[in-house]
Parts: sequence; structure tokens; C-alpha cells
Amino acid sequence: MSNNNLRKVDVIFSPYSVEPYDILKKVKQRKKEDVIQELIDSGLRGRGGAGFPTGLKWKFAAQQKSDQKYVICNADEGEPGTFKDRKLLVEVPRKVISGMAICAWAVGATKGFIYLRREYRYLIPELEKEIKLYDKYAKDIELDFTIEIFLGAGAYVCGEETALIESMEGKRGEPRNKPPYPIQEGYLGKPTTVNNVETLASATMVCRIGADEYKSLGTDDQHGSKLFSISGDSPKEGVHELELGMSVEDFANEFGDGDTKAVQVGGVAGFCIPRKQFKSSIIGEGNTTGGSTMIFNSTRSMYNVLHNYLDFYAEESCGQCTPCRIGTQQLLKGIEAVKAGTKPPEYLDQLSKLAETMRLTSKCGLGQSVTNSFSSIVKNFREEMIF
Ligand SMILES: Cc1cc2nc3c(=O)[nH]c(=O)nc-3n(C[C@H](O)[C@H](O)[C@H](O)COP(=O)(O)O)c2cc1C
Ligand code: SF4
Repeated sequence: MSNNNLRKVDVIFSPYSVEPYDILKKVKQRKKEDVIQELIDSGLRGRGGAGFPTGLKWKFAAQQKSDQKYVICNADEGEPGTFKDRKLLVEVPRKVISGMAICAWAVGATKGFIYLRREYRYLIPELEKEIKLYDKYAKDIELDFTIEIFLGAGAYVCGEETALIESMEGKRGEPRNKPPYPIQEGYLGKPTTVNNVETLASATMVCRIGADEYKSLGTDDQHGSKLFSISGDSPKEGVHELELGMSVEDFANEFGDGDTKAVQVGGVAGFCIPRKQFKSSIIGEGNTTGGSTMIFNSTRSMYNVLHNYLDFYAEESCGQCTPCRIGTQQLLKGIEAVKAGTKPPEYLDQLSKLAETMRLTSKCGLGQSVTNSFSSIVKNFREEMIF
């Protein structure tokens, strides 16, 4: 995988040089298949973590036969260290709403929801104003698609698309078995396209600048620009839009404090990259596209970092499946025992096997991804885990 140099860009956050609803109006004059193909050609992948190709998701959703379809903007943003979606909703909400409407028109949905993280409820008055403005516009261009805000209740797992749908239906926020996928049977059993806030804003910009220009950003396997929520030991904390494809080294040089020993990429669900692997790409193979990047310098205890992550996982596991419910607690107790000296260092190897078993047997991405941060920290910072 080749890297390119770090470059700050201004695609998703660019001010409204063209009114996003005018982009929507233009899109509506095209053939639906052409717009979906443009999304496919752009190489845009979902920015909510799993990185599924957005155009393909829309194509499959459009192929579903149903009397009712839904579009959901996933604004649950519960991954520790990420705050990019909030910034988008504050600064360029029309790009997000326009992305929802373009998606709805392309797949044939008439009803949409913004699933908003409860902690962001202070955004509701401004968002309601934006939705009112959109409603007027939609009427003018005869687009039959309305949007409502649905407030989450603060659980990390409810960002997982099927748990999110369960919670919208008034049930416990627990992930469903997949298949069927939401595009087949989602909200109220109807085809539902769930996309992340940033994905939808990016989709609007793909329609504005075209697939070729969008694809000219990035590398052969990572296309476009992406928002990074940067926190930790950085003098430049905040949200930065960067062209995809840079190495972790360039990233650490730009955003670290000169003493970076590790970068956590993709939030707690992602990987902890140690200095010796800094040549790798920041969204390398298997790394998630969520955008939370935490920078740790040499003063940080990686034991404490891992302890915090496991504490979070044990708290947020919905408890539905045994590997995750019990596994998260056992990993936490296990590293505490090794640190206290009541278990030998070799016990870490057994714990790594447990984390791998969780990856293979857990029902949803929460339990499946624990091994990413666990194994990358235990493997690369083993000496810090030991008594
Ligand atoms: C535990 C867990 C939490 C998640 N939280 C979010 C979230 O807050 N926002 C989000 O967009 N996707 C989240 N996802 C991913 C969603 O399930 C889904 O893949 C995503 O919303 C699809 O949108 P995209 O294709 O635009 O990425 C989460 C997944 C898991 C397993
Ligand atoms: S993996 Fe964890 S969060 Fe996901 S369904 Fe199982 S218990 Fe719930």
C-alpha cells in the first residue's frame, strides 16, 4: 500500500460556495442509476467505521422492492475520541441533510431520521431550523422526503446500526443478527439505508465536484478526504480534514508534540500503532474509518490506556452474547492481575487468545473489535503490562 504526503484539504468543510440544496436540485435532474454509479466511481467508503462502499450500499438499497423505505443519518457518535460529526452538524448541516435527501431520492425512500446522540441535544433548535428550510426547498423541487430527529439515550452500542434501529422501535438497544441487513429489513422491517454524518456530507460533495475530482484525492486504495478527530498529546487537537493516504509518521510529525510513542487509529475499536510501525498508512488494511485518532507521548502508561479502554468496553457491552459480556470483564480483570503480579506475564498470551475468540464469536462489532486495541497494545507494549 503506497502512502502520499500529508495534505490538509477543504472539501467536506468548504463553505457553501454552491448552496447544497442547489446540488440536490441538479442531482434530481439526472438518472438515479447515474448518480449511484457516480458514488461507486468516487470510491467513497462509509465513514462510520466499517468502511462499506457507499455507492454499493445505495445500489443494493435501490434494488429492494418495498412500499416504504427509510434513510437514517447515524449521528450517535459515541466512539471515544471522536467529535467530527458534531462539528459537521454545527458548521455544514445542509451538506448532511442534502446527502440524506440525495440518498433518499436515489434509493426511493420517503422518510428519514437523524439519530442524534443524546449529549448533542443542544443542537436540536438549529437542526430543526435547517430541516424547516430544507422542507421548503423539497416542496419547491417536488421531492417527497421528510426528516425527523430521533434522540438516542447515550449507549455506545446504539451507534451500531441494528441496535440503533431496535432503539428507534422502542426496544432495548441490542444488535440484531445479520443478515438480514438494514437495507433488506431495517426500521419497522422496511429497507433502511443507514449512513454516517460524514459519509452523507461527502456524498453531497461527490455530487458537487464529480467522481473524478473526488477520486483524484487519496491513493489507489483510499479515496477522497476524511475528517480526523485528534486528541491526546497534541498541540493541534481538534477536527482536521486531510487527504487520505498519509503515513502514521507524517501524521505524528504534524500533530504530535515531538515525543509521540503511539497513535490510536479508529478509536478504541481500532489499532494502537507503535513508533516502529509508523511507516504504515493511517487507514491501513483492517483499520477502521471512524476518524478518532488519539496521540500518546512517552509520559503515558499504555497499561492505563488499555485499562481505560477495557473499562469502557465492559461498561458498554450490551450483555446479549456471552463472549463479549464475560470476555470484556475477564480481559479487564486479567490485565489487573498481571500488573499486580498475581498472574505471570505469560497469562497475557492466554488473554490475547481470549480476545481473538471474542473476535470470532461475538455477535456485533463491539465484541469483535476488542482484540484490535487489546492485541496491538499487549504485543507492542508488553513490558508496560507487567508487574
Ligand atoms: C459498537 C458500535 C458503535 C458504532 N457507532 C457508530 C456511530 O456512532 N456512528 C456511525 O456512523 N457508525 C457507528 N457504527 C457503525 C454502524 O453500525 C454502521 O456501520 C454505520 O453507521 C454505517 O454508515 P457508513 O456506511 O456511512 O459508515 C458503530 C458500530 C458499532 C459496532
Ligand atoms: S458483541 Fe457485545 S455489544 Fe455486541 S451483541 Fe454481543 S454483548 Fe452486545
